[in-house]
Amino acid sequence: MTEGTPAGESTTLPASPANAGQAGAVPAGGELVLELTGVSRQFGAVRALTNVSFECRAGEIHALVGENGSGKSTLLGIASGFVDPDLGEIRIGGQRLRTDSPAQARKLGLAMAYQDGSSVGMEPVKNNFYFAAPPDQRPPYWRRKKWARKLLADFDLDIELFPDVPAGFLTMADRQLFEVAKALVTDPKVLLLDEPTTALGPDEVEALHRTIVACKDRGVGVVYVSHRLPEVLEVADRVTVLRDGVSQGTFDARATTEHELVERIVGRPFEAAFPPRDPLGSEKKDVLVVDGLQGQSFGPVSFSVESGEIVGIAGAEGNGQQQLFDTLSGRTPPRAGRVECAGEELTLVSTHEAVRAGIMLLPGDRKTEALMGVLGVRVNASVQSLRRFSLAGILRRRAERDAIGDLVERLDIRTPSLDQPVEFLSGGNQQKVSVSRSFLEEPSVILAYEPTQGVDVGSRFDIYNALRTRSNAGAALLVKSSDPIELAGLCDRVLVMSRGTIVEEIPGDELDEVRIVEAIVRGPGMSKSARSPLGVAMPKSPSKQAS
Ligand SMILES: Nc1ncnc2c1ncn2[C@@H]1O[C@H](COP(=O)(O)OP(=O)(O)O)[C@@H](O)[C@H]1O
Ligand SMILES: [Mg+2]
Repeated sequence: MTEGTPAGESTTLPASPANAGQAGAVPAGGELVLELTGVSRQFGAVRALTNVSFECRAGEIHALVGENGSGKSTLLGIASGFVDPDLGEIRIGGQRLRTDSPAQARKLGLAMAYQDGSSVGMEPVKNNFYFAAPPDQRPPYWRRKKWARKLLADFDLDIELFPDVPAGFLTMADRQLFEVAKALVTDPKVLLLDEPTTALGPDEVEALHRTIVACKDRGVGVVYVSHRLPEVLEVADRVTVLRDGVSQGTFDARATTEHELVERIVGRPFEAAFPPRDPLGSEKKDVLVVDGLQGQSFGPVSFSVESGEIVGIAGAEGNGQQQLFDTLSGRTPPRAGRVECAGEELTLVSTHEAVRAGIMLLPGDRKTEALMGVLGVRVNASVQSLRRFSLAGILRRRAERDAIGDLVERLDIRTPSLDQPVEFLSGGNQQKVSVSRSFLEEPSVILAYEPTQGVDVGSRFDIYNALRTRSNAGAALLVKSSDPIELAGLCDRVLVMSRGTIVEEIPGDELDEVRIVEAIVRGPGMSKSARSPLGVAMPKSPSKQAS
């Protein structure tokens, strides 16, 4: 890794083989369908793009990644003629694009799928398709239903789109796929997708990927903007990284790693991006004590978490992690066992009891569980702490505003105002609002379930810092994550769950990504001998006992 060089400059990162011959990494053959050269754009004081060059070839999936605000949407806006560059040149299919001409961009063969949807809600799907197609490519009006069906099949869009259903009735996921389908109706040379997977679950992402691969196979160039790196790497041929409106290079997707891309996205070496662990083992006491706990499809499990400690929960999905968190947060009552929080024994028959005892849950599904989308940042942050801002029953708005204003600054929550409805914030900023509650409420135990799911890379590290800050302030943290890199970087030790029980404990000095993955794939069985009578895996020397 980068040694002895200051972090923060892209030049301090070693050139990867993929980066070495940037042009050489291009999939051979395809002609250039989109070419941006030396593009710059400023909005007021914000330099959204500075001298960016970007290209996409026929039959290529070219991913564009970067933190929120790094300029990805601006780049697509410029490519599609909706945003005028201050400097630079755009070519579509070799033809120069005039400024301010979305219509010309379309004519030259560029199509864009919009995230929020440009469909006419009450019109049936087939009509939306019909009107999306250029007039000379439309079928006879009465045949539009059959035509729409064929289009969907051609692009491997096996979504159950009923041609007669009003577009406004589609689910978020179907609407997203529908937007892509509509863009394809124009038979484009180049297709732009701006964060198409934000509202999609894993199966739907797979469906979308099938479609963009089908496009690629037909020779369409696809520009795919996303902040989900594992997804991008699965499907892209090349990846271009933007940071603060400046290109950090273009990489061959097969020759680069998530790790390497993260470094370029955040602009500092990966390890340095995680907050340091608590340096001195100050006076610690067990805050959360779990003994022989059993619940729906998990247990018995026994472990404890000290104040100032972050303990990770690893494991393949569906091995009881969710149920353990549900029980610890009082959502599903336990079947047997004991739980203590800060010395107080809990029955865990209600979320109310858990909250009162000082257990705070940061649920993974923020959209439906944690936050009230239509309400503002301020209300969402302080909803559990209203008592704190009340004096003789009267809410002290001023104190509330000040405290939350501080937190917005401290956690770098990007919001135009404290009253901005949280549904309009990015996933990362929503999660920061959720985390900000733990600063106001100061719980003894924080249960964080997939704290960075759907969160862009930059915000991820802000969230790690915020969680570490809570732990340094004395809270005990339990973090469930499916990302071994996250667990290795953030936690003091990690418990591995399999089939509802803890099969292994990985101590801090052995924590790394590989060690965690090994423990997960190894699963139960081998470590029985290492288990204490309580069911807690004892620390043991690595690899010796692995079979
Ligand atoms: N129409 C606009 N007016 C003012 N600022 C804008 C506008 N569009 C984008 N920006 C700013 O330009 C920067 C890049 O934004 P954007 O291209 O949307 O980034 P991304 O899509 O990577 O999140 C941000 O700082 C954003 O606030
Ligand atoms: Mg964007």
